[in-house]
Amino acid sequence: MAYSEKVMDHFANPRNVGEIPDASGIGEVGNPKCGDIMRMYIKVDGDVISDVKFKTFGCGAAIATSSMATELIKGKKIEDALKLTNKAVMEALDGLPAVKVHCSVLAEQAIKAAVSDYYKKKGIDPAPLVGDIPECESCECDLH
Ligand code: FES
Repeated sequence: MAYSEKVMDHFANPRNVGEIPDASGIGEVGNPKCGDIMRMYIKVDGDVISDVKFKTFGCGAAIATSSMATELIKGKKIEDALKLTNKAVMEALDGLPAVKVHCSVLAEQAIKAAVSDYYKKKGIDPAPLVGDIPECESCECDLH
């Protein structure tokens, strides 16, 4: 299984690691099969995600996809962050081995979960805004 240079870079030097103590929203998602957990913190100013941090207890690909996902949504409007798919995260990393596709799904789920939490804290029903949080379907691994 070969990882791209970008995956190795984001695994070895993950961006935006940590927590935001006064986060506007926190999303925690996990893959029950592999046991990996991803927690994402967002700070929202107006309708912009002004800051984002993550903590991932998981495999290298999960760390690299969380890192790239935070880079892709930082400074973006919430509505644009919600459009970020796991495929876009994978493309930005120059691809992932097929057995690691599900790790990128965690990153998309974590963003959507953090935005849902933000809306819930504001008393807004997140379901129509965030939509369904995707399950991993594209994965060819034997974890599911
Ligand atoms: Fe579990 Fe990558 S997220 S193996």
